[in-house]
Amino acid sequence: MTGKRILLIVGGGIAAYKACELVRLIRKNEAEVTCVLTDGGAHFVTAMTLAALSENPVHTTLWDLKNEVEMGHIQLSRAADLVVVCPATADLMARMAAGIADDLATTLLLATDKPVLAVPAMNVRMWQHAATVRNVATLRASGVSVLEPDEGMMACGEYGPGRLPEPDAVWAAIGGMLGAGASTDSARAAVSRSPVRAEPVEAHSHPLSGKHVLITAGPTHEPIDPVRYIANRSSGKQGFAIAAAAARAGAKVTLVAGPVNLDTPQGVRRIDVETAREMAAAVDAALPADVAIMVAAVADWRSADQSAQKIKKDGSGQVPPLQLVENPDILATLGRSDHRPTLVVGFAAETNDLLTHAHAKLARKGADWIVANDVVTHKMGGEVNALHIVSAHGIESLPEMSKDAAAAALVKRIADALA
Ligand code: CTP
Repeated sequence: MTGKRILLIVGGGIAAYKACELVRLIRKNEAEVTCVLTDGGAHFVTAMTLAALSENPVHTTLWDLKNEVEMGHIQLSRAADLVVVCPATADLMARMAAGIADDLATTLLLATDKPVLAVPAMNVRMWQHAATVRNVATLRASGVSVLEPDEGMMACGEYGPGRLPEPDAVWAAIGGMLGAGASTDSARAAVSRSPVRAEPVEAHSHPLSGKHVLITAGPTHEPIDPVRYIANRSSGKQGFAIAAAAARAGAKVTLVAGPVNLDTPQGVRRIDVETAREMAAAVDAALPADVAIMVAAVADWRSADQSAQKIKKDGSGQVPPLQLVENPDILATLGRSDHRPTLVVGFAAETNDLLTHAHAKLARKGADWIVANDVVTHKMGGEVNALHIVSAHGIESLPEMSKDAAAAALVKRIADALA
């Protein structure tokens, strides 16, 4: 990313403080950033802060005659490789969608000939309002990349989608659009020697359009009797984040989900299952697919006998015998199937000898990539991950990042590999 130039428009919302963190991240990765601060944005962060962090003058007004001589707004809008609007408020996106140019930010956005990335942040009701939905659709149809906001507790106390994505997720999206991957300092060495990455594709052009991506996620539950089951700690968050990222990249996505407490990502077809055998059948029924990403933590074993009634204690202190039998291996079956997708990606959550186990699974399961993660450092069910993409050609180690950012980075590499 060295030398890439980003024009960052900071809109007026409480999330503007995260734009400061984004500026720091951009500079840390040796890209150039010039900030434009809207009147609203100036209520939350100062031009002085942005100037100090970006090491560049901050532009605030269209009527700065000195700048019109030295750098007119047309030139400013085109000198960058990418224009990023962060935070993109409901008002700013409405004015962008309508083509209004009544201040420096909107004038630059109308004048630019460069790709534009909008990072929304607003109250959940504002995000879900028909007007905003319409404006986002208009912006996307006219080529603007609009990130999905994060879901969670908001500054206003309400819960839902609308939070600004974390700066590392925004950085991953910037990397995707500039064709440089989501690398940060620590990842760059691994990325540059990695054979997993091919030529970059333009993230704003829906690189997975026309592709069917089949994803499994979450745990499976293997019943012992009507009230007890064998399970594991998988939350499904990483698989759901990958499904969301693949849908954003334009893919038709089928998500076969074990029992999890998560909303279905926008644009994703979801099939809920409980057991490994149900998951295997749903995967089989969803074929053919171009890409399979098996993120689910499938229970390896199930109870040989499933009691129709609740097993009772008889008071003798004797424990009931629990006989286990092995479940079908969905990934290994797919890896060797006649209907094998072009790219088969497995996951491996390990507690020890991460890369040794990942390599063994690559061969054993007939996968193209195994994405390994260390569940001692990053416990199952957490919010962040550090993924290692293991293929026959080498290993690419991504730094720790949010599960959304990790999903975006993985989907970017999948799109590159298919291109
Ligand atoms: N997997 C699968 N079906 C199974 C078991 C695992 O499809 N019955 C897939 C997982 O979705 C994952 C990969 O295989 O993509 C590795 O899963 P993991 O549980 O780590 O591997 P196992 O083969 O079960 O090996 P172990 O539990 O011994 O580590």
